[in-house]
Order: sequence, then structure tokens, then C-alpha cells
Amino acid sequence: MASTSYLPRVFVTRSAPAAGLARLGQHCHMTVHEKENAPTREELLQGVRGMDALFVHPSTRIDKEVLDAAGPQLKVIGTYSVGLDHIDLDLCKERSIKVSHTPGVLTTATAELAVTLVLATAKRLEECIRAVKEGVWGTRWENALWLVGKQISGSVVGIVGLGRIGLAIAERLAAFGLSKIVYTGRAPKPESADPIGAEFLSFDELLKQSDFVIVSCSVDESNKNIFNTGAFKKMKPSSIFVNVSRGAIVDQKALYEALKSGQIGAAGLDVTTPEPLPPSDPLLTLPNCLVVPHIGSLTDSTRNIMCELVVDNILAGLEGRPLLSPAF
Ligand code: NDP
Ligand code: DGY
Repeated sequence: MASTSYLPRVFVTRSAPAAGLARLGQHCHMTVHEKENAPTREELLQGVRGMDALFVHPSTRIDKEVLDAAGPQLKVIGTYSVGLDHIDLDLCKERSIKVSHTPGVLTTATAELAVTLVLATAKRLEECIRAVKEGVWGTRWENALWLVGKQISGSVVGIVGLGRIGLAIAERLAAFGLSKIVYTGRAPKPESADPIGAEFLSFDELLKQSDFVIVSCSVDESNKNIFNTGAFKKMKPSSIFVNVSRGAIVDQKALYEALKSGQIGAAGLDVTTPEPLPPSDPLLTLPNCLVVPHIGSLTDSTRNIMCELVVDNILAGLEGRPLLSPAF
């Protein structure tokens, strides 16, 4: 009798591009959470049980309870993101579970979105579109300062986290003819900063000097809520805050107050707390706050490449080969 070889079992927490998943399915017994919404906690705990690998999305928290539910056979987790804040990495290390992520392949897409948010908030695009649709264009246009926006050329751009994405944002905005690029982070990064002439500043000094504060750092316990009332008070009243990092870096009540009171000029957010942001959230009542639904890496080519990378990492982890893009 022919022996049946063991096919490793993989749980995929949300649907992903078909070509990548089909390839994974050739090597594994794959279970995909097909529903439109992310799995509930119960569905997740049930879905991971007995799995050798997990293909997870950044909206899925992978903590002790999930790892316990999966069981000791779990070998590898591939996240469909570069951000790792949803995974208990220390515990994975402790349990010798390999973890991969998708650095680099989404840098361009996310930087393009950050630039889009800079332009859209500076030019007050959402308010402009609404004015046209509501038919108030004719009456108000005579006012020379109606819907007056901000110029990007000549401005000071401050990048919080000059990593892959932060640098790609700075490089693209430099083409507008900025007065200065400044950045902050845990330490100066001359290898990235020098070619674009960016100056390292303390967090507080960057807030004081910048016309645009763009957040592109990774987020962990050390920088949660660093954008709080005190931080917004240090920013210029005309300044624009753009966040493509994680919602957790912002105290959203403080952001609401800062936008409402004119402490800062406007905000463009790709990331919020929670996600999805409920339609009743006070931020959505503000004309100077533009929110998009975490679309930084959402281009067709990028999403396909990310999926292929997750699959390659999972297969490597299952076969005992080194991961292509390990998280640690
Ligand atoms: P990198 O690791 O290349 O860059 C992260 C940067 O954040 C590094 O420069 C790092 O500095 C800096 N950093 C870490 N901690 C702090 C801190 N406490 N204060 C200031 N800076 C800090 O990652 P990527 O550029 O590839 O991605 C960055 C983040 O962007 C991801 O972690 C994710 O959260 C988010 N992201 C969002 C997307 C979206 O769809 N909106 C898409 C992709 C990513 P150091 O080098 O000193 O560690
Ligand atoms: C990431 O990669 O961290 C994004 O948030 C999702 O693509």
C-alpha cells in the first residue's frame, strides 16, 4: 500500500491574492477564513488549532492565547505586513516559532499614499470635492481666501522614523523643493539622511519646526501615544499631521481636540484606533481631518508580491530552510 505523506496544515486568517494562495495550497493542507470580516477571536482560536503554519494579517492579534490554542507543532508565522506590532515576538522566539514579514516590497506603495495624504490635506481636497458636489462653488469663489490651501514647496517636512518608508517619503517630497527635511528617531541615520540633506532633531524640536509632520516609524510599547496633547501643543497651528504608521502612536482624543481647536491645521490618517474606525467617530465630523481605510500597501502589484513573499517564507519555515525575510 502506498504511504500517504504528511501535508503540513496552514491557516490563512483572511483571503489573499489567488495566485499566491494556490501555490501554498499545492504544498499544504490550507484552510482560509473566507468571510469578509476578520475572524472573531473564537473563530481565530478555533482556526489555528493543530496548525503547522499561520498566514496572518495585521488586524489579527497573535498573542499567548492564540499560540497556546495553535499547539506546540506550530513552526512558522508569516504576516502579510511589514509591521509586527500585532505579534508577540518574544513569545515566538521563546517557543522557537519562526516569524516572517514583508519589508521593502510595500515601501513604494506606502510612500505614495503618504505623499497623497500630504497633497490632499494641504490642498483641502475633501472639502473642495464636497463644495463642488454641494453646489457652493459659485457663491464662495469670489472670496480670495475660500478653501485656501498650503504650499508644499518651501515648507519644512518632518519625518518621524526615517526607515525604508520614511526615506521613500522624504525622497519623493524633496522633488517639491522643500526648505528643509528634518527627522527624528532612536538615533541619527546618516547613511539615509545625508544623501537627502536631512537633519536629525529631537522629537520636540521636530514638532516645533515642521510644517508637515509625517509618521512612518514602527510602533511598540515605547512609542504608543507619543502624539498626545503635549505633542500637539508643540506643533505650529498651521501644521499638518500625516500618519501611515499605526493608530496606536496617537492619542486620538488629543488629536480631535488639537484639530477642533486649531492647535494644528489638519490631519491625514491611513491608520487609526480602532480599525475600522466607526462612522460615528468624532474625527470624521471634522472638515480638517481626512481618513482613509489603511490602504498604504494596497496596490494590485504590491499585494501580489507581498502574498508571494509570505508564501515563500511559510514554505521555507515548514521545510526547515532559513526564512527570506525573518522578523528576528
Ligand atoms: P523600518 O524598520 O524600515 O523603519 C521603521 C523606522 O521606525 C526605523 O527608522 C526605526 O528606527 C523607527 N522607529 C522605531 N521605533 C521608533 C521610535 N520609538 N521613535 C521613532 N522612530 C522609531 O520599517 P518600514 O519603514 O518598512 O515600516 C515602518 C512602519 O510603517 C511599519 O512598522 C508599519 O507599522 C507601518 N506601515 C504601514 C503601512 C500602511 O499600510 N499604512 C504599510 C507598511 C508599513 P531605528 O532604525 O532606530 O529602529
Ligand atoms: C504593514 O505592512 O504593516 C501594513 O500596515 C499593512 O500592509
